[in-house]
Amino acid sequence: LKIIPKPEGSLNRAAMTGSQLAKDLKEKKLKALREKRLKQIKKKTDDPLSNKDGDANDDDDELLSEWQKANKKSKISYGKKSDMSIAEQRKSLPVFKMRSQLLDLVDENQFLVIVGETGSGKTTQLTQYLMEDGYSRRGVIGCTQPRRVAAISVAKRVSEEVGCKLGHQVGYKVRFDDKYGPDTEIKYMTDGMLQREALIDPNMSKYSVIMLDEAHERTIATDVLFALLKKAARNRPDLKIIVTSATLDSDKFSRYFNDCPVLKIPGRTFPVEIMYTKEPELDYLAACLDTVLQIHVVEGPGDILVFLTGQEEIDTACEALYDKVKALGSSVPELIILPVYSSLPSEVQSRIFEPTPKGSRKCVIATNIAETSITIDGIYYVIDPGFVKINAYDPKLGMDSLVVSPISQAQANQRAGRAGRTGPGKCYRLFTESAFKNEMSPNTIPEIQRQNLSTTILMLKAMGIDDLINFEFMDPPPMRTLMVALEELFNLSALDQDGNLTKLGNKMADFPMDPALAKSLIVSSDLHCSDELTTIVAMLSVQTIFYRPKHKQQQADLKKSKFHSTQGDHLTLLNTYNAWAQNDYSRTWCEENYIQERSLKRARDVRNQLIKIFLKYKHSVSSCGRDYDRIRVALCSGFFKNSAKRDSSEPGAFKTLIEDTPVYMHPSSCLFGKRSEYVIYHTLLLTTKEYMHCVTTIEPQWLIEVAPTFFKVGDGQKKKSGKIVSLKRNGHKRLAPR
Ligand code: CDP
Ligand code: MG
Repeated sequence: LKIIPKPEGSLNRAAMTGSQLAKDLKEKKLKALREKRLKQIKKKTDDPLSNKDGDANDDDDELLSEWQKANKKSKISYGKKSDMSIAEQRKSLPVFKMRSQLLDLVDENQFLVIVGETGSGKTTQLTQYLMEDGYSRRGVIGCTQPRRVAAISVAKRVSEEVGCKLGHQVGYKVRFDDKYGPDTEIKYMTDGMLQREALIDPNMSKYSVIMLDEAHERTIATDVLFALLKKAARNRPDLKIIVTSATLDSDKFSRYFNDCPVLKIPGRTFPVEIMYTKEPELDYLAACLDTVLQIHVVEGPGDILVFLTGQEEIDTACEALYDKVKALGSSVPELIILPVYSSLPSEVQSRIFEPTPKGSRKCVIATNIAETSITIDGIYYVIDPGFVKINAYDPKLGMDSLVVSPISQAQANQRAGRAGRTGPGKCYRLFTESAFKNEMSPNTIPEIQRQNLSTTILMLKAMGIDDLINFEFMDPPPMRTLMVALEELFNLSALDQDGNLTKLGNKMADFPMDPALAKSLIVSSDLHCSDELTTIVAMLSVQTIFYRPKHKQQQADLKKSKFHSTQGDHLTLLNTYNAWAQNDYSRTWCEENYIQERSLKRARDVRNQLIKIFLKYKHSVSSCGRDYDRIRVALCSGFFKNSAKRDSSEPGAFKTLIEDTPVYMHPSSCLFGKRSEYVIYHTLLLTTKEYMHCVTTIEPQWLIEVAPTFFKVGDGQKKKSGKIVSLKRNGHKRLAPR
């Protein structure tokens, strides 16, 4: 039996969006640039077996690296955060001088754009000024953040300033986690959460003011909120919208919001000396560490901020740096090494903001989260390799993937600016001046222009917004991106041929996640395996579950193999979670099995949230017992696009059914080295090759069953379209709802 994709898309294109536009040149250019730069870099983290997101916070000391132990145990006496009282600190921020002017402007205008340097007090102060001025009596003061960590940490800080328990007067709401209640007056949330609220309440009736913070980041959710809030404001003259940005694109924002006034908060910045490398750095990680050491030994006092791309890279750098400093002996002052990335546990997070003890130096190694969303005081030196990990849509693979890309000139300048907050600083750019001028694009391309939009479009459709072409996007996404997303939703049966939301699509929109996952969950309810699917989806949503300490990899692998399912990694995840549950969610059990307890706990939280959604929307939650085929069919119904067939010419090699692109079994998969014909995978991981991550075997017939508009039985000749033949041949049992 040969399964091939149907060549004709069958979505009624003309009815949807008109003629397809020419290819987006910008996107192409960016990709070429990325490839060129990436070729110059010897990637350190190519080992496909290394944890995708190594974790620096487990509790078994024996397994930790020396740096991790030191980092965990260090009892640095930081003293008080500052000698100033909270009230004095608040008054010392640059926004304080603008307080009355700001409140007047909000009073007189419905829209207001505020521009100010990072650290001037926009996020923590403006909401409090509005509350003090009485706005919270008319409704909640909402403030969005592009990142969950920022939303939580800022809410915490503001609750301290206000003097309340977090979750009372000041609260937060991020996906799968919230702390707020009926008496909450200031609510920090991710932009994604507010976007979801708009689905239920398009007029934002609970809010008196909404502040779209960090608008310069131009996340999809913020961009969509621009349009949704503009619409809500038309219906509600009393609703105030504030847009804040750390960069100078304020005129564009002002124009979009009916030429509203722009308030500039004068920063107190010092000059930053910028240095470039003469040659391109082949190994930016090593260059970073050398630069840190050089600064530490040679330069005067002041903390260091290094920008790297992700958690794993940051942990590697911290470890290596610790060893290097140690090798220098006691002749050099202490260097306190602090990692900063979004999944950092809160104990470590709060340490970032503590002032450095006298006689030592702090070195913060962060992702681009420290560019604008988190301000660390006392930084005099910035090291910038010029890269960032972004989520980009790859049209070839038909999916989003995290890729390391060069930053924009605006981002580089933003990063450099971090060195000039406390005094004159220095920024070490690990790229050449010519690369800055000629290879980096002036501004960051908004996410909406480069990412998959299927989740967003599903949500807009569920809100009754059908005319996507005339939706008031600030920068409309390329027509092609819209088309791809519509087609994806059509293939998932969330839209009908004319692009109208189906019943299934409507249900899918209730789940705050990728439409493929949402569909698998809904189908699992019909197939009576939702108990299992919620576990699997929860496990997929957390980072590293199994860890492999350097010196105990074999033992760790052996332990993991106990949970292996012959049918693949999704079921292995299920086995693992169930085994943990059977062992009373025990911590020792996690340690014995080389499992990150923190990840499993988070999975349990996510699972509970999913069950809540199931009950709220009256989807049944039931278990399939041992009938695991049902689970695989449910997964197939969402992920049939990620299907691949074994390529017999090379061991471990597969070809995707849709594009015929070569992909490989990831060595961490429990199917690695096993013979599987047809598989589906959760994601592709691009290192040296394109690896399928989290893989499960399937029966090819299921593909036709779950995606009849997408697959058919091939007749050997690809062009000729054959009829779908009976699925019951090969004697395979058809899975129907019980
Ligand atoms: O939003 P903007 O970048 O303008 O500034 P902010 O985040 O309101 O920060 C104002 C001040 O509060 C800075 O000096 C931060 O270091 C401090 N802050 C803090 O101590 N802890 C936090 N979680 C957030 C901010
Ligand atoms: Mg801010």
